[in-house]
Amino acid sequence: MQDLATGGAAGVGGIDPRLDLAEEIDRLRHERDAIILAHYYQEGEIQDLADVVGDSLALAQAAAKHKKKVIAFAGVHFMAETAKILNPESTVVVPDLAAGCSLADRCPPDEFRAFLDRHPGHVVISYVNCSAAVKAMSDIICTSGNAEKIVRSVPADQPIVFAPDQWLARFIIKKTGRPMVYWPGSCIVHEVFNAQQIARLKVQHPGALVIAHPECEEPVLALADYIGSTKGLLEFSQRSSATTFIVATEAGILHQMRKADPAKTYIPAPTNEGCACNLCPHMKLNTLEKLYLCLRDLTNQIVMDEQLRLRALKPLQRMLELS
Ligand code: 13P
Ligand code: SF4
Repeated sequence: MQDLATGGAAGVGGIDPRLDLAEEIDRLRHERDAIILAHYYQEGEIQDLADVVGDSLALAQAAAKHKKKVIAFAGVHFMAETAKILNPESTVVVPDLAAGCSLADRCPPDEFRAFLDRHPGHVVISYVNCSAAVKAMSDIICTSGNAEKIVRSVPADQPIVFAPDQWLARFIIKKTGRPMVYWPGSCIVHEVFNAQQIARLKVQHPGALVIAHPECEEPVLALADYIGSTKGLLEFSQRSSATTFIVATEAGILHQMRKADPAKTYIPAPTNEGCACNLCPHMKLNTLEKLYLCLRDLTNQIVMDEQLRLRALKPLQRMLELS
């Protein structure tokens, strides 16, 4: 008789193809005292078996609240790192350690240090999409769900540096009227939506509302009827009386939108040259097989220097207090 768990008949990653992965993941979740957190940009099959599905703010809050021995984080590296900063006693594993983020990657800590040195005396607000080293240089962390609130919490006479997403920074500057110095970062997924094509699509679908994530570029945001975090977009699509939405964010969120209200129509916003680049290549590195393996073997653990963790914890705690 073949051993299913160790893969008597080899499948993907040595996993026996006869295994019911959803069932196995559920068994391991209990055996390991684990919680599975998944971002809205994960594949639907991963979202469906997670304990908590959310945007980066909700997932950070969940990581802070649920004290489990193991956190399996189906998202990207900075999200799992955030969970580890908040839960040093928990073993935090990720399906694929290579799942990074263009915003975090485009803000190297040494260059950010030099940038801050050129702007002394500023309150440093960093979007959670950054490395622990950048968090450690920041005063407060924010997410797309609370950026406006966090910026408004800083006394008016204090200058602000905002990093690393320039489009979120520009959106918040416009909204609050608050000038900020910002890092020129951008997301490879949200910078590819095509404003002209979105405008054309709107004409083809009279009554459709454009809903966009604030990481989108300004010409796309200018067309939006609602701008918000992934959770904000999901909630807006549910409460709105409109029945058709053109969605300018990573297409993984459509899974929850369709589940929440299947009678409505959700159209992924068109991208430049019709590429399939509205899917985050980092998020999509995660698969059910890899989630199973990291829970089974406790591989792909997030490991962090304790001094760095403590420095990165402070601005994260400030964010959670203010949220
Ligand atoms: P949310 O804050 O909406 O989760 O966005 C995270 C993200 O990575 C967007 O690209
Ligand atoms: Fe990073 Fe963009 Fe992917 Fe979000 S969608 S994880 S910001 S690369």
